[in-house]
Amino acid sequence: MSLSISLTINGSTRDIALDDPRVTLLDLLRDRLDMPGTKKGCDRGQCGACTVLLDGKRVNSCLTLAATLDGAQVTTIEGLARGDDLHPVQAAFIDTDGFQCGFCTPGQIMSAVGLISEGLAGDDPERIREGMSGNICRCAAYHGITLAVQQASRRMAEAEADDREGDAA
Ligand code: FES
Ligand code: FES
Repeated sequence: MSLSISLTINGSTRDIALDDPRVTLLDLLRDRLDMPGTKKGCDRGQCGACTVLLDGKRVNSCLTLAATLDGAQVTTIEGLARGDDLHPVQAAFIDTDGFQCGFCTPGQIMSAVGLISEGLAGDDPERIREGMSGNICRCAAYHGITLAVQQASRRMAEAEADDREGDAA
């Protein structure tokens, strides 16, 4: 039996026929839609490597059934940069050496984007570590990851303040 869903992924709406109602969002992205940026670490909700934004909120895509997502908006790591312009969180990970092998990095970055947009990042490293605690890094690049979230959070807040000033002028 096939089931049809419509998903908006990184701004493009796609109609997708699922031949297996048990397929996860992670497998759909990687195996069916040729979007391998989202990584499969544990496939059981323990590592955060598969983190994407679903309607703006962070989820483990390995635990999310695609069949439940009709009409949803999904953002993956492939959807962050604008051409050659990296998202501020991506740029911050590079600036602070927030990775080593890079396997966990797409999930870390998506989680950081979610954390910042939830307004929960702030500048406190302890709070950031807590907010990012669902994302495991086997290379233990945690120091750089925390610095990256701090830097991106600060820069995005500054850019927003500049925009507001520009609008008010
Ligand atoms: Fe989804 Fe590990 S692959 S949490
Ligand atoms: Fe290697 Fe995180 S950078 S697992």
